Amino acid sequence: MEVYGLIGNPVGHSLSPPMHEAGYEALGIDAKYVTFEPPADEGAAAVDAADRLGVAGLNVTIPFKQDVMDAVEPAPLAERIGAVNTIDFSGEVPRGYNTDAVGAVRALSHHGVTLDGTAVVVGAGGAGRAVAFGLADEGMAVEIANRTASKADALADEVPGASGHGLDALADLLSTADVLVNCTSVGMDEDATPVPAEALHGDLAVLDAVYSPIETRLLRDAGAVGATTVDGAWMLLYQGVEAFERWTGEDAPVDAMNEALRAGL
Ligand code: ATR
Repeated sequence: MEVYGLIGNPVGHSLSPPMHEAGYEALGIDAKYVTFEPPADEGAAAVDAADRLGVAGLNVTIPFKQDVMDAVEPAPLAERIGAVNTIDFSGEVPRGYNTDAVGAVRALSHHGVTLDGTAVVVGAGGAGRAVAFGLADEGMAVEIANRTASKADALADEVPGASGHGLDALADLLSTADVLVNCTSVGMDEDATPVPAEALHGDLAVLDAVYSPIETRLLRDAGAVGATTVDGAWMLLYQGVEAFERWTGEDAPVDAMNEALRAGL
């Protein structure tokens, strides 16, 4: 039996165990997915320990995504993002990946969104970094808007072809944009949105990284003007799907994993 897992602190409410185990069950893979909660300063040591214990793969969440970089050989995209959320122990050395970036790309693709033209990424924290690099890698022109404009500028300096802005630029940026991704935590309060409703239009595809609540104010506003809407559970699903496929080498049973994930939300 293979053991996969998640390290984070806290990890109590993670939906990754039921999502991955639904995938193993659907494909008849003999594996378990367990959660580990090491102390906040022991991320790299925990990865080392998992490697020695024969764990096959680990997902990594807050607060360890940066620290574990020291314990793995990061893939080029993870290296540029500066964060690892998936570790594969099957090779000589543990390999680190960032499937958050690909998760956003695959969530949009699943909904028929073509990834060309311009994407506006709202937020310049960990999620914003991953999504900005992911969409730029797909060839999109990326505009980053953040409450603290200097952080958007600093991120834009690293992402090829990107520019940084304050939130006051959103209406202008969105008038010609194709894709909008909210990577701030605004929206967890169900009446709050980081984007004025008047700035939205029907030619946009809008992905909200917030998945609790599943239907955020931003997605409601976007749906009301006829935009394509993609909720945060799709991004959570596809970061897991991408990890599952790296670890098992199989095409993930996306429907089974999606059903298990949504049942837990
Ligand atoms: P994550 O890892 O989820 O991206 P983070 O790194 O803490 O979390 O980043 C949070 C993001 O949400 C930041 O872009 C933050 O903006 P600042 O850089 O200006 O702090 C944004 N954010 C949080 N609360 C916000 C609010 N009330 N209004 C606008 N943006 C907010």
